[in-house]
Amino acid sequence: MARSSRRASTWTISCLSFLLLVLFVSPAVTVKHHDFKRCEQSGFCKRNRALADSITEQGNPESSPYQLDAASIKFTDGRLEGSIIKTVQETGPIKLPLTVAFLDRGNVRVTIDEEKRRKGDIELRHGSIARKERYNEAGAWALTGAGLHAQKAASLKKISKDLTEVSWGRDHEFKALIHHTPFAVEFWSGEDKQVVFNSRGFMNVEHWRPKIDRPAADTNNSEQQVVNPTEDESTWWEETFGGNTDSKPKGPESVAMDIAFPGYGHVYGLAEHAGPLSLKQTRGGDGNYDQPYRMYNSDIFEYELDSPMTLYGSIPFMQAHKKDSTVGVFWLNAAETWVDIVKSTHDANPLTLGLTGGIVDTHTHWMSESGLLDVFVMLGQSPKELAKSYGELTGYTQLPAAFSIGYHQCRWNYVSDEDVKDVDRKFDKFNIPYDVIWLDIEYTDDKQYFTWDPLNFPDPISMEKQLDESERKLVAIIDPHIKNKAGYFVVDEMKSKDLAVKNKENNIFEGWCWPGSSHWIDAFNPAARAWWKTLFTYDRFKGTMHNVWLWNDMNEPSVFNGPEITMPRDNLHHGNWEHRDVHNINGMSFHNATYHALLERKKGEVRRPFVLTRSFYAGSQRTSAMWTGDNQANWEHLVASIPMILNQGVSGFPFAGADVGGFFGNPSKELQTRWYQAGIFYPFFRGHAHIDTRRREPYMLGEPYTSIMTKALRLRYMLLPAWYTVFHEASIDGYPIVRSQYYVHPEDEKGFELDDQFYLGSTGLLAKPVTTEGAESVDIYLSDNENYYDYFDYTMYSGGSKTHRVVAPLDKIPLLMQGGHIIPRKDRPRKSSGLMKWDPYTLVVVLNKNGEAEGTLYTDDGETFDYEQGAFIHRRFTLENGQMKSTDVATKGAKTASYLKTMIDVKVEKIIVVGAPAQWSKLDEVSVTAEGAKGSTSAELIYHGAVGGKAAWAVIRGPGTSIGEDWTISFSPGHDHKSEL
Ligand code: NOJ
Repeated sequence: MARSSRRASTWTISCLSFLLLVLFVSPAVTVKHHDFKRCEQSGFCKRNRALADSITEQGNPESSPYQLDAASIKFTDGRLEGSIIKTVQETGPIKLPLTVAFLDRGNVRVTIDEEKRRKGDIELRHGSIARKERYNEAGAWALTGAGLHAQKAASLKKISKDLTEVSWGRDHEFKALIHHTPFAVEFWSGEDKQVVFNSRGFMNVEHWRPKIDRPAADTNNSEQQVVNPTEDESTWWEETFGGNTDSKPKGPESVAMDIAFPGYGHVYGLAEHAGPLSLKQTRGGDGNYDQPYRMYNSDIFEYELDSPMTLYGSIPFMQAHKKDSTVGVFWLNAAETWVDIVKSTHDANPLTLGLTGGIVDTHTHWMSESGLLDVFVMLGQSPKELAKSYGELTGYTQLPAAFSIGYHQCRWNYVSDEDVKDVDRKFDKFNIPYDVIWLDIEYTDDKQYFTWDPLNFPDPISMEKQLDESERKLVAIIDPHIKNKAGYFVVDEMKSKDLAVKNKENNIFEGWCWPGSSHWIDAFNPAARAWWKTLFTYDRFKGTMHNVWLWNDMNEPSVFNGPEITMPRDNLHHGNWEHRDVHNINGMSFHNATYHALLERKKGEVRRPFVLTRSFYAGSQRTSAMWTGDNQANWEHLVASIPMILNQGVSGFPFAGADVGGFFGNPSKELQTRWYQAGIFYPFFRGHAHIDTRRREPYMLGEPYTSIMTKALRLRYMLLPAWYTVFHEASIDGYPIVRSQYYVHPEDEKGFELDDQFYLGSTGLLAKPVTTEGAESVDIYLSDNENYYDYFDYTMYSGGSKTHRVVAPLDKIPLLMQGGHIIPRKDRPRKSSGLMKWDPYTLVVVLNKNGEAEGTLYTDDGETFDYEQGAFIHRRFTLENGQMKSTDVATKGAKTASYLKTMIDVKVEKIIVVGAPAQWSKLDEVSVTAEGAKGSTSAELIYHGAVGGKAAWAVIRGPGTSIGEDWTISFSPGHDHKSEL
């Protein structure tokens, strides 16, 4: 008996080990395609693609039934208003009100509505109480207003009875040529046609019509088929997918437009997708997708790579780029949206019979299920200008709390408050810096948010206090599904105040998520948001204190038993908008609510909230950070994380990261180490792992891995001053934090498809993480004709369209510095970023070919909003003509002086000059003149000559100047400082 049971248990163990092996080793997990629609399973996508196909086949874009009624045109103060008439045989003319607003910076907004729906002059089926208008509040969520002023100086000219021209801009350098029949618009800047609407005739506004019950199709009856031969009505009135039926009380209501970018060979944006940065064609063919890019925020389990499938967030913003020119389109619609992309090539000069090479045009086709047709066209010049424009429309990325750009340690789950304390101690024992430890859903009592599991987290405050001793923070998860359990105060309050999302019958919607049966807060409702605020105060969310911040997950929303793992489209939100209309904004409505709740936790305690969100929309950058969701612990996902994060930057939401190490599965030690070396360059840098994975905090791996990862983490921490400066730049200019090759070198066509190397802001730091198993080197492409230097040993690489092999064994991070920059650092290792606050600075000066360099530093208290009143330091450093200077570029405010006083003892302790001129070998000191000081002092200079391929460098020790004051350092006067390498 004993023996057989032992045998049984041996067998069980082998089976278990096999299972574990399969679980941990097999990377072959894949998305459940059948849970999510393809275009042909989505009624409106199929209808619009079919329309596009039939027009293309017949070659008759002119047949487009939309005509601008010339007599209706009114033009005042930079806004054109008129009516587009859609001619439909069956119902007669349909009136579509048109507004075109000509805005600052070469932006235009084109909005098309439908008169009948706008007036509520339609009937809904099934007794639905849904709103009758097309959804017109997306702008209220996404836009900030700053870039929305119409240009009064815009002027209108009637060119012919079928053509109207409007020009605007400072020198009227922009113009829109509006064709009346069919309706089409060409947008020009200068001599170039940049963007064209409806050139292929795919425009479509599905007007309201009553349902006519036709007899079932009879294929023998030819008369019956004539009723409406071109239109497929099968999905107009009801749509079933995966066992769920959408009642569609408003009938078909999609909007679509073809938008062409003549001469533009590359388009970027449309976050969030797991594919290359330069978007692919989507109508089939070698290497292309056969599906449009889809945007319908979804909880996609085990998402696949190199795919146009939708993911958790959507930003319907696209940049088209060609050598030296960038334009953009922002499709302001919150409903499910698909975008087809095709490219065509034509001869630059037809007379040369193709010998001069072709010009590529990119044609896109945008389709949304419902809502207004509301599009911004941006006629910028460069990716940077476009970023600025887009930021003026949707807002810039928040200036985050300083701790949030340090390292975050997460897993599903740290199992108790003792566990958290233990992990915290271990980080210290191994001298590994980190700022934040995270609690996933298991900290709650039975998945009831705002409560703690009494057995495992009996004393959360003592845990938070321990973290606070090292200025560390805790982030706790709170999701939008609220457990449906009588007596749970949150659900009781939400129900009694009537603040939850409703189903189509206008009763509270019930579905399944982590807690089992749940209801969902309707954050579109201002009353719900006001109530949400009350839940976060320290006396209501007991067990939290000032160092606790928030994670909003599952906010697509994820509904385990819902259609496509989300809410039914006919659910109702505040104002009786159907869920279909607002779906892609749902996540943002929730994380915004959390952000505002955190601002009001305690009277008088106003600090910059940190909120991480999984679901997002255009505008989410104002209040949150995002991560790319449930990736996998394999090399392919490490590779994919880079273009995904770069694309977040292109799409105006650059505070982005991916789960370091991979969420599902167990990374090999090599993979995890390489992932940390890449992760230190994610703007949001967090290690995270699924509940079934092995523990993998950096100290768990053993040597040499732990030391290598620690070195990488320290590098992130040393460079935090540079990171913070870059975040500041993003918060005022909208620039990406990590920037792809085309962004930094928009003139170099060779870099337009590169998406595996990137620059950190404008610091000149160029990283190319190793993302291949066993690789010991990477190839880095250097576009500009400048010198680059290895970050660690100053090996020199010359640029100018050259590719260099950089050796990178496991302990080496391929990181170069572009000549011409000054990079601020803090070199003293500490436990957390908070403990580095008063540490002195090191400035790394990387000379360019002319022996010059410049850079900036922005810093402030890192947690309050006092910077809005001038409590910050913003310096510009330059080195030219033998002098290094620090000058003030800050704008003064009421709190400037008091803040500067607190910073008086924060000094520059070291200056390293890379590529130092040979003459400096004769110097052993430099003279330092500081603001307010009488005379000058001297500081030691130590010179290291060039050796082999490594550049000469010099160190100036202890210049002793305050970081907030003006100063000048003079190197030996009278020398020509051209680099003599
Ligand atoms: C899904 C999230 O994507 C993941 O990061 C998290 O750990 C689980 N939900 C559990 O909350």
